[in-house]
Amino acid sequence: RKRVVVLISGRGSNMQALIAATMDPSFPGQIVGVIANKPDAPGLETARRHDIAAIPVDQKAYDSREAHEAAVLDALAELDPDIVCLAGYMRLLSATFVQRYAGRLINIHPSLLPLFPGLETHERALAAGMRIHGCTVHFVTERMDEGPIIAQAAIAVEAGDTPDTLSERLLRAEHRLYPHALKLILDGTVRMTNGRAVVESRRRLSEEP
Ligand code: GAR
Repeated sequence: RKRVVVLISGRGSNMQALIAATMDPSFPGQIVGVIANKPDAPGLETARRHDIAAIPVDQKAYDSREAHEAAVLDALAELDPDIVCLAGYMRLLSATFVQRYAGRLINIHPSLLPLFPGLETHERALAAGMRIHGCTVHFVTERMDEGPIIAQAAIAVEAGDTPDTLSERLLRAEHRLYPHALKLILDGTVRMTNGRAVVESRRRLSEEP
C-alpha cells in the first residue's frame, strides 16, 4: 500500500476521516505519519491513539518560516511518503516545498474553488447569497488555493444557515470527499500532468476505437 502523510494544524477531523478510510485493508494507501506545525494540535493525540507516528514541528521553535519548513521537509523525508495530504494545515508552503512534492501534494479547502479561496469561506458564501456551498480537494501549486481540482462536493445552503451551521454541515461532506479524492490519486485514476488534473479512465475511454 502507498504511504500517505497528513499535515495538520488543529482539530484534525479530516485527518481522522482519512485514517478511518485507510483502516479498510482494500484502501490503496496507509497513513504512515501525521505532522503538525503546532505541538498542541488536538489531531496529534488522535493520530497517536491510532498508533500512527505523530510528529510536532513547532513553528515557534524556529527563527524563520524557511527554517521551520526545512524541518517539516526533514520530518517528511523520514516518513518517505508517496502522497502528502494537507488537512487544515494553516501555513503557506514555499515554492521549494510545493515543487518537491509536485503532483503528490493535495489539500482540502472549504469552498467550491475557484470561488472563495482563503479564509472565512462560509461567511463569504453566505454574504454572496450562494444557494450551494461546497468543498474542494485539489493539487497544491505555488498559488494558494489554486491548484488543479481533483474532486468536489456541494451542499445546499438552507434558510437560516449561519457560518457555524454551514461549516458543520460542510465538514461532514469534507469527511466523505477527502478519502474519495485520495483514493482517486492513489489508484492512479487522477494525476497531475502539465498543471492539469487528468482523469485516466476518461482518457482511456476516449482512446478506445
Ligand atoms: C477544514 O474545514 C478544512 O477544509 C479547512 O480547515 C478545516 C480543518 O478542520 N481548511 C482550510 O481552510 C484550508 N485553507 P479539521 O482540522 O477538523 O480537518
